[in-house]
Amino acid sequence: MNIFTFKQEEDFIQTGASLIVSLIQGNPKAILGLATGSSPLGVYARLADMYTKGLVSFTEASSYNLDEYVGLPGEHPQSYNSFMKQHLFNHIDIDSTRTHIPNGHADDLQAECQSYDLMLEQNGPVDLQLLGIGSNGHIGFNEPDDNLSGGTHVVDLLEETIEANARFFTSLDEVPKQAITMGVGSIMKARQIVLLARGTDKAEAVKAALQGPITTECPASLLQCHPNVIVLLDEEAGRLL
Ligand code: GLP
Repeated sequence: MNIFTFKQEEDFIQTGASLIVSLIQGNPKAILGLATGSSPLGVYARLADMYTKGLVSFTEASSYNLDEYVGLPGEHPQSYNSFMKQHLFNHIDIDSTRTHIPNGHADDLQAECQSYDLMLEQNGPVDLQLLGIGSNGHIGFNEPDDNLSGGTHVVDLLEETIEANARFFTSLDEVPKQAITMGVGSIMKARQIVLLARGTDKAEAVKAALQGPITTECPASLLQCHPNVIVLLDEEAGRLL
């Protein structure tokens, strides 16, 4: 694992964006694994900026998102589908037929999970998987548990995750209680993983993930088994290392 801790937000953002831009420049057909949450926002804004300046084009690239809430229509402002359009897809030239996000509003969620896995299997592996980390150590929506699932699956969100996500909704009741998420097996198949974490409330999860035992109780700790992980942290998130 290569761990970088940045004093300046600018360096955190530029490093994350540069990893993606150099990948696309070397392989315009690269497959990106994308994440939601606040951690990648600066990187997405920088990618949009670099596209506007003509420094990168995503026309041949494709993307697979990690997760989506169950029960929200794609057009719901808090769906991850809307998030990705608002923060990235509407600002770059990626072809919308090549962006993929699980459909959390599908009638048959099991069939949706299977077809997402099939697509990943047929088109993958993902070249670069961006990841955030939950303060309980979750990646995607793979919550701490006795067992973890390898493939895409429906997950019951833990109370702490529902509470953490309530900041994006008008009330706690509105926060979806389930999500579809790529499994840790699918995440680990990516050729390279870039984990982003910012803020003091991530410090314990970051320490457990990077230096603690490899355990399903901290899903991000499984990243210790991956051969090509880059971790980008701000000083607060890295303060316990
Ligand atoms: C959600 C997402 C995760 C994300 C996490 C952290 O739970 N499903 O993929 O990593 O939030 O979000 P943030 O980056 O806002 O702290």
